[in-house]
Amino acid sequence: MSPMNVSIIGTGYVGTVTGACFAELGHNIICVDIDTEKVRQMNEGIPPIHEEGLPELLKKHAGVRLRATSDYNDAISDSDVTFICVGTPSDENGSIDLSIVRSASASIGKAIAEKGKRRGERRGAEKGGESDADRYHVVVVKSTVVPGTTDEVVAPIIRENSGDAGAVGIAMNPEFLREGKAVYDFMNPDKIVIGGDPRARDTVARLYENISCEITLTDTRTAEMIKYANNSFLATKISFANEIGNICKRLGIDVYEVMSAVGKDFRISEHFLNAGAGFGGSCFPKDVKALIGRASELGYDPLLLNAVIRVNEAQPMRMIELLTARVGEIRGRRIAVLGLAFKNETDDIREARSIPVIKELLNRGATVAAYDPLAVENMRKVFPNVSYCDSAKDALAGADACLIMTEWAEFGSLDQEFEEMLEVVVIDGRRMVSLDSDRGVYEGICW
Ligand SMILES: NC(=O)c1ccc[n+]([C@@H]2O[C@H](COP(=O)([O-])OP(=O)(O)OC[C@H]3O[C@@H](n4cnc5c(N)ncnc54)[C@H](O)[C@@H]3O)[C@@H](O)[C@H]2O)c1
Repeated sequence: MSPMNVSIIGTGYVGTVTGACFAELGHNIICVDIDTEKVRQMNEGIPPIHEEGLPELLKKHAGVRLRATSDYNDAISDSDVTFICVGTPSDENGSIDLSIVRSASASIGKAIAEKGKRRGERRGAEKGGESDADRYHVVVVKSTVVPGTTDEVVAPIIRENSGDAGAVGIAMNPEFLREGKAVYDFMNPDKIVIGGDPRARDTVARLYENISCEITLTDTRTAEMIKYANNSFLATKISFANEIGNICKRLGIDVYEVMSAVGKDFRISEHFLNAGAGFGGSCFPKDVKALIGRASELGYDPLLLNAVIRVNEAQPMRMIELLTARVGEIRGRRIAVLGLAFKNETDDIREARSIPVIKELLNRGATVAAYDPLAVENMRKVFPNVSYCDSAKDALAGADACLIMTEWAEFGSLDQEFEEMLEVVVIDGRRMVSLDSDRGVYEGICW
C-alpha cells in the first residue's frame, strides 16, 4: 500500500480517532481544528478526548506521521484527501444544524483554491505541465449528515469556493464507531461504507486497504441514509427494550430474563436489549431527531421514530418517580448520583440521561452528590452547584438515596459502601447492583 496524505477537519471524537488510526495504517495525517488547545495537545501526542488505545497511537505518531494545525491552507496544500469530521448538532427544532459543516466546507474550498494558486506559481517557476492526478483532491464527508447534504450542500460550497483550482472529488464515508471502543472499532469494523462517484470512492477505499473488511460502495445519499438507518434501528431496540421493561415492571416480570431469551433469536440478536434509563450520547438522540426532521420536511410523519424519542425522554423521569415513591419529598435530601457519562468507558456527557435527572433533582430542591470515574470535569461545566466526589463511597456518605445512571463496572462491586448512606435506598437505572431486601430498598427502573 502506498501511503496517502490526508487532512482531517475537526479533531473531536471522530476526527482524532480517524487521524490516529489512519496514521497507524501508514498514512500521513494533518489534523485541523479551530480550537488551538486541541491542536497543541495533538501535536504533543496528548488525546483531547478519552478513548481506549488513543494515547498509545498519538504518542507513536505525533510529530512523525501526524501533526495538527489551525491553518486550512497548510493542511490542504499538504494533502490529497480531506475528511470533514466536524459536529452536526441539532437546531432548536431538533433538525440538523449544518452551519459548522457549511463553514468547514467553505474553508476547504478556499484552501483548495489557494493550493491551486501555489501550484500555478511553482509551475511558472519550473515551466512544467500539470497532470489531472496532480490537481485531483477528494473531500470526504465523515460527519453524520442527512441524505442529500453531501451533494446539495457540501459539494456546491466547495466548488464555489475552489473555483477552477482543480478537479474536486466528493465522497461520503459515514462512521460507525462506538465511543469507548472507537480505536478498536475503526481498526476492526464490521462495515465500511463509501458513497460517491467511482473515482472518488476508489481513492477513499485505498485508505482502508490494510483493513480486512468488505467495503460497500454506493452513492452519497445512500451512504448518508445507511448511517441514519443504523443508528435509528439501534435506538429503536433500546426504546423497545425499555417499553417492554416498563410493562414487565408492572407485571413483576424480570425484563432481563425476557430479553435474554428474545435476543437468542438470530433475527433479533442479544445486543442493545438492556432495559434501563435510556440512551444518550452525541449520536442516537440527535440522529433520530434529525431523521424525524428530514422526514417531516418531506411531508412524512415518522410515527415509530417519534415514539422512540418519547420513550427515551420519559425514562429518566421514571427514575425520579421511583425515587419519590420510596423517599417521599426530596427537598433538602442528599441524593447520590453514581455515573454521569452517557455510558461507561467515556468522559462524554452529551445527552447523558444523568443530565435530566440531576436537573429535576435540583429543581425539586435536593442536594446532589455525584461521582463518575471520568466525566466529573465535563459535568461541572453543566451543573457547577453539584457536590462532586472522588469516589462512589464519598458520594454515598450521608445520602438519603442513590441513583445509578451509568453502567461503570465498578458500581457492580459496590457493597459495604452502601452502608455509608443514611438509609439504603438504591434506584438502579443500569442493572448494576444486586442488594438483598434485608439491607434496604433496591429498585430497578424496569425490573
Ligand atoms: N462521537 C461519536 O461517537 C460519533 C460516531 C459516529 C459519527 N459521529 C458524527 O461525527 C461528527 C463529529 O462528531 P464528534 O463527536 O467527533 O464531534 P466533536 O464535537 O467531538 O468534534 C468536532 C470538532 O470540530 C471542531 N470544529 C468546529 N468547527 C470547526 C471548523 N470550522 N473547522 C475545523 N474544526 C472545527 C471542534 O472544535 C471539535 O473539536 C458528527 O456529525 C457526529 O454525528 C460521531
